[in-house]
Amino acid sequence: MAAGHVGAVLAALGVLTVCEAGGPGPAAEDEAGGEAAWAEPWDGTVFRPPSALGAVGVSRRPGTPQPGQEEAVDLPVLLWWSPGLFPHFPGDSERIECARGACVASRDRRVRADSRTRALLFYGTDFRASEAPLPRLAHQSWALLHEESPLNNFLLSHGPGIRLFNLTATFSRHSDYPLPLQWLPGAAYLRRPATPLQERAEWRRLGYAPVLYLQSHCDVPADRDRYVRELVDSYGKCLQNKELPTARLQDTATATTEDPELLAFLSRYKFHLALENAICNDYMTEKLWRPMHLGAVPVYRGSPSVRDWMPNNHSIILIDDFESPQKLAEFIDFLDKNDEAYMKYLAYKQPGGITNQFLLESLKQREWGVNDPLLPNYLNGFECFVCDRELARWDAEKAHAASPGDSPAPEPHIAQPSHMDCPAPTPGYGDAAEIPEND
Ligand SMILES: *[C@@H]1O[C@H](CO)[C@@H](O)[C@H](O)[C@H]1NC(C)=O
Ligand SMILES: *[C@@H]1O[C@H](CO)[C@@H](O)[C@H](O)[C@H]1NC(C)=O
Repeated sequence: MAAGHVGAVLAALGVLTVCEAGGPGPAAEDEAGGEAAWAEPWDGTVFRPPSALGAVGVSRRPGTPQPGQEEAVDLPVLLWWSPGLFPHFPGDSERIECARGACVASRDRRVRADSRTRALLFYGTDFRASEAPLPRLAHQSWALLHEESPLNNFLLSHGPGIRLFNLTATFSRHSDYPLPLQWLPGAAYLRRPATPLQERAEWRRLGYAPVLYLQSHCDVPADRDRYVRELVDSYGKCLQNKELPTARLQDTATATTEDPELLAFLSRYKFHLALENAICNDYMTEKLWRPMHLGAVPVYRGSPSVRDWMPNNHSIILIDDFESPQKLAEFIDFLDKNDEAYMKYLAYKQPGGITNQFLLESLKQREWGVNDPLLPNYLNGFECFVCDRELARWDAEKAHAASPGDSPAPEPHIAQPSHMDCPAPTPGYGDAAEIPEND
């Protein structure tokens, strides 16, 4: 293929960069529930779980016998130390019903030293070692919910940081309550029919590029921008910036949602550059799943273990499979001109096309839902997971105290670095030594 052709395609690379200076925007808290719940977590200081979260105070598992009121004095207390996450119930405390029994979830720090307070729960993004409640009490577990990338809190991707905790819910499959598929509503989400190629060819005639790059944060550790610049610049062409068609869509609060107008716009492109903000095993976000939902092929850099989760082994393009941005551009150009080769990337949308049993099983086995009003969300799910573990630990401790010979003391359970599995950052393109100092 002549290099000249490639250049022509790249000149048309539709690049949209909405780079916002500064930290978390104030908009976060104005957007209550609903679609806004899907704003990228690091856009807000407050965790806003999916709208279904309202289901607090109801029994999370139908059929659980309601323990008598007299037992309440003995219930383990789970104290949410991170303030940002709560209240998700009115008042300071709430009885929760879980598989093994009931617990009290509270945010009232006055119960911190109580013998019934068996676990402190932390939200990773808010966690600061300096604010940790010390001294640590021997009878308490520390539980960590950190589904976001370590971009939000580097402390936690280091061994001494993560080992502070006993129970974890993170994006990693190795965590105690794994959330790798936190952005994937289900297999049906992937099977949604793609916008027909003829229709997309029509948009091309109207000036659309084959590749979309939708980006809202710059200068993150995964070094996204340098690669993209290289992808375009290696041909001596200018980066073509394109604005989203309406002001509402330009709003970064909309840019990460399932807004129908936004989805309609995004589905006009055949390829989406999908670059995660951090490179961690099993850390995958809507940047990956949304293009697949829409029938675009993700040109992806993110979780090094992403292949394990793909519907089949021919559904995304991995940037790191190409020795240079130029080679990648050639390949995109090839697919762009060959419908049959392109459509093979969408074969998973056909009946039986999702062949990855690990993916299907993982979706089937998880007890929480993504935007599913019939299932608990993972925040409630994790709370119950901790409740059940603490009930079991407490029972084991009581049995051991009553009869040390027959019942061994429960083993300590400590989180491992694999629960935040992020290799050291590497340059997005080229050698670290070659990056100019001012980059
Ligand atoms: C991947 O695809 C090849 C054919 O391209 C097939 O032979 C192989 O079994 C597939 N592997 C998996 C894990 O699906
Ligand atoms: C929790 O983890 C700490 C270390 O971080 C450990 O000392 C303690 O024994 C663990 N507690 C439980 C209940 O496993």
